[in-house]
Amino acid sequence: MNILDAIKERHSVRSFTDQPIAAEAVAALQQAVDECNRESGLNIQLIIDEPKAFGTSKMAHYGKFSGVRNYLAMVGKKDFPDLDGRVGYYGERLVLLAQQLGLNSCWVGLTYKKQADVVQIGDDERLRCVIALGYGTTQGVAHKVKDVGKVCRSRTGEMPDWFCRGLAAAMLAPTALNQQKFRLTLLPGNQVEAKARMGYFSKVDLGIVKYHFEQGAGTENFTWKQ
Ligand SMILES: Cc1cc2nc3c(=O)[nH]c(=O)nc-3n(C[C@H](O)[C@H](O)[C@H](O)COP(=O)(O)O)c2cc1C
Repeated sequence: MNILDAIKERHSVRSFTDQPIAAEAVAALQQAVDECNRESGLNIQLIIDEPKAFGTSKMAHYGKFSGVRNYLAMVGKKDFPDLDGRVGYYGERLVLLAQQLGLNSCWVGLTYKKQADVVQIGDDERLRCVIALGYGTTQGVAHKVKDVGKVCRSRTGEMPDWFCRGLAAAMLAPTALNQQKFRLTLLPGNQVEAKARMGYFSKVDLGIVKYHFEQGAGTENFTWKQ
């Protein structure tokens, strides 16, 4: 499955079978986690066969999760500039790899219990969110998508193909509460500006959206406005 198929087929899944993740998939994920950590400076941890974070807490129950035994703990330095953006960008890279490996996933902002004995979190670090992983009991369903006109602008008077392809991939990105509170603006010189509007986890969402946009648009076609 290529990455664009993974983008189309990924939906949040909150209920998992008890099938352990295949050893080759664990190895591929661990290798990708190591690469993401090297590139980003984050301290993402792949936690396998640990059911307590999604055990019997009221919050976990409220989130309607079941059978979660594997997850990514998205840990990073508290004082990183744009910690949330990095968490979103690198977390989604791992989510889409998981989809390509035949797994399902769900980003989780609140409804888990922090397991201090399992996840290593330094004094200068924080656990921003987790991503549940495993073989879903279903493949999930497509989310409602906002009118694309509400999230994009062109300051050049044009909408080149690559920008439209990037937008299409961005619209399929998971966002907290499916809020889609982002704005992508095409500027002269093939620059794209990505901005988060106010909202719960909206800066993590923006990192996720940027990763999707890059896959759809092709990084050779544009640069991000810093
Ligand atoms: C940063 C972030 C935090 C999220 N937190 C939760 C959560 O705490 N509980 C939950 O059930 N879903 C959570 N979600 C999943 C969203 O509800 C889901 O991505 C959105 O409704 C879009 O659906 P889709 O992922 O199936 O496309 C979160 C998603 C993101 C991106």
